[in-house]
Amino acid sequence: MSPFLLTRLLAEDAMDAALRADVLHGLTAQPKTLPPKWFYDAHGSDLFEQITELPEYYPTRAEREILLGRSGEIAAALPARTLIELGSGSSDKTRHLLAALTSLESYVPVDVSESALAQAGEGLVKEFPGLAVHGLIADFTAGMSLPDTPGPRLLAFLGGTIGNLLPAERAAFLASVRALLSPGDALLLGTDLVKDEGVLVRAYDDAAGVTAAFNKNVLTVVDRELGADFDPAAFDHVALWDAEREWIEMRLRSRADQTVKIPALDLVVHFAAGEELRTEVSAKFRKEGVRTELAAAGLDLSHWWTDSEGRFALSLSTAR
Ligand code: SAH
Ligand code: AVI
Repeated sequence: MSPFLLTRLLAEDAMDAALRADVLHGLTAQPKTLPPKWFYDAHGSDLFEQITELPEYYPTRAEREILLGRSGEIAAALPARTLIELGSGSSDKTRHLLAALTSLESYVPVDVSESALAQAGEGLVKEFPGLAVHGLIADFTAGMSLPDTPGPRLLAFLGGTIGNLLPAERAAFLASVRALLSPGDALLLGTDLVKDEGVLVRAYDDAAGVTAAFNKNVLTVVDRELGADFDPAAFDHVALWDAEREWIEMRLRSRADQTVKIPALDLVVHFAAGEELRTEVSAKFRKEGVRTELAAAGLDLSHWWTDSEGRFALSLSTAR
């Protein structure tokens, strides 16, 4: 059995500095914001896995259906020797792809969540004994150098996580993805699609309150890492559909007029009653928009698959 290798590209102190910069910038801005990557400590990663099982949260099931049905076609289109996956989390759905890619030698999952990577890696080396699995703890928005693994390379970015980047961040991200690939390599991209507002809002405001707990977990992360005194119970979870920008926004709404101390930043932040802090956008896509954004980054869309209900799409695009 090949060993599971886990490398930290994002040093603990660099991660701490990035969190401080994001919190200082986001909580002194108007309106207040925090980037979604800070949801994913070990507890946040567990909560995300619980979200994927919720009856209202369709994207994981829809993408799994596509991967189950289409992994053979994906492998035929690009018999990759290396699979790189950004924001791999539990790598659960990826197993269908790993099973179909018969030429695969190396799998490189990349995530900010060490706990998710460690758990996934341990399971994968047992399930795929001939495969070299090299996990990277890294921020996929911060420019990464990848291990020297054989081509052709398939880079997967699943789950619709691209929708958690703002449009300008998406363009920069796709350009950086293209730079990691050689001509003929490919990107396998999961995108959630525009659909009925009620279906979308319910997916981000489930009856059991798991998404609310996931949203509030970012406050717990800031409390623990920066000594802040956020009380998660003093905020309400909000999920709303922005029809113009075609994205879901998750926010935390202050239940009362309150101040929060963040000693590590020497900062006191005031929230008015009803004031909202934006914690995530989750953009929803249409085929032509995806094609255009990929093309702008030097990636040519070759395949577009959706689930049987047309809720979610997986696209394959080739590096020019
Ligand atoms: N791909 C999995 C997990 C999606 S959840 C699925 O489809 O189910 C999003 C994942 O991206 C989480 O595991 C989170 O830790 C990771 N993530 C979020 N922002 C990141 C960033 N900037 N850099 C690296 N990983 C990130
Ligand atoms: C990881 N990402 C694609 C999820 C989404 O649907 O935007 C994160 C999430 N936020 C709330 N629920 C799930």
